[in-house]
Amino acid sequence: MSDIGRRGFLVRTGLALSAAVLASAASRTMANQQPLPYRFTNWENLRTQFPLSPQLIHLAAFFLASHPTPVRDAIDRHRAGLDADPIGYWFEHEEKQEAKVLLAAAEYLGASPTDIALTDSTTMGLGLLYGGLKLGNEQEILTTTHDHYSTETALRLRAERTGAMVRPIHLYRSLKTVSRDEIVESLRKGITPMTRILAVTWVHSSTGLKLPIHEMAQAIQTINRSRDERDRIIFCVDGVHALGVEDFRVDELVCDFLIAGTHKWMFGPRGTGLVWGHPKAWPIARATIPTFGSQAYDLWMENRSSKDLPPSVHMTPGGFHSFEHRWALDEAFLFHKTIGKSKVTQRIYELNQQLKQGLAAMPHVTLHTPMTQDLSAGIVCFEVAGLAPRQVVEKLRQRNIVASVTPYATKYARLAPSLINSAEEIDTTLRAINELRAA
Ligand SMILES: Cc1ncc(COP(=O)(O)O)c(C=O)c1O
Repeated sequence: MSDIGRRGFLVRTGLALSAAVLASAASRTMANQQPLPYRFTNWENLRTQFPLSPQLIHLAAFFLASHPTPVRDAIDRHRAGLDADPIGYWFEHEEKQEAKVLLAAAEYLGASPTDIALTDSTTMGLGLLYGGLKLGNEQEILTTTHDHYSTETALRLRAERTGAMVRPIHLYRSLKTVSRDEIVESLRKGITPMTRILAVTWVHSSTGLKLPIHEMAQAIQTINRSRDERDRIIFCVDGVHALGVEDFRVDELVCDFLIAGTHKWMFGPRGTGLVWGHPKAWPIARATIPTFGSQAYDLWMENRSSKDLPPSVHMTPGGFHSFEHRWALDEAFLFHKTIGKSKVTQRIYELNQQLKQGLAAMPHVTLHTPMTQDLSAGIVCFEVAGLAPRQVVEKLRQRNIVASVTPYATKYARLAPSLINSAEEIDTTLRAINELRAA
């Protein structure tokens, strides 16, 4: 095994992810003259880290991240290195940088780095996972009618290709009356002895509704207690609008797979994402795209099997990527860590609460997202009487406020207050919406 390959093997099997690789990573990073790390002081200062247009109130920032300074600097550094000497820089950095990214993601998630596969987006993770999860002839995939295009389409493609049974259920009757109990009860009733995979979305980008993932996981655990390992329900969560918003650790979530892009609320480089899998669940995942994990490749060159490598290695698709983006992802996790998870959650909740309370008080506005933070996170959906959602968004844009329309069959105007916003911006937005009365 080559030197590079041997190191890769150790890294991926988790044996060397800490001391040796990181020590050398750290010393080489210093040699690269990395700027001083970001220190959070206050929200105004945080906003200065983003090159977002100061003329606009950005309330659709979750759609695709603007890169904060540490992420941007890291991208620039890697891009310059790759442009100067692509193969030299790649051999010098591939292993070390991937280890750093996996370690930073693992630390942030409360996971082991060997349980994380790196992807380019939520959609790539969903497609690869749902396309390959092992399923018996009598087993079905249970999903909901509230999921995003990417979950629904990944499941449809799986069904068309393999004949897998996919059954969607409603989790609630109306947003006006939805409760955590109703959601958990609907799930319990929807599960049958054939249900093997459950595919849901933590925070719905269609309505802003947040599912009670912990309670759902507990209900599934109870059902799983009377099932064999090969029949137990595998709980898969699209967590893209929870990662970088909710204060959680995957080891407390009790789900089997968490799939998310890191280029929305996490502020990671555009074109990055991950799949975390519980060590007990990973073995039922089957890869589709050959990994370029160096140890898998090395084993292949030696005509040896790579089946003993962690499944997350195989679930990290090759070939080459936009490495300047992928290798800068650790900076996004560090950026969030510096602020602190609970502070992040609290700030996003506060701004969303302010927005929802303001909207709920307007007679010409229908707020669709539940008021309680138990059932909502960072996304607020609403309608303005007499105006189509697209018109609402256009009129707000004329006032330099950036909103979006939910990209679903049922459309709402959508605002997503995030860490880059201020209470004053929410007030300005509320005043603008108050003036949006149909002529
Ligand atoms: C719930 C949900 N899942 C998945 C996606 C797709 O994310 P990505 O761009 O990372 O593939 C989106 C929005 O883009 C979304 O709202």
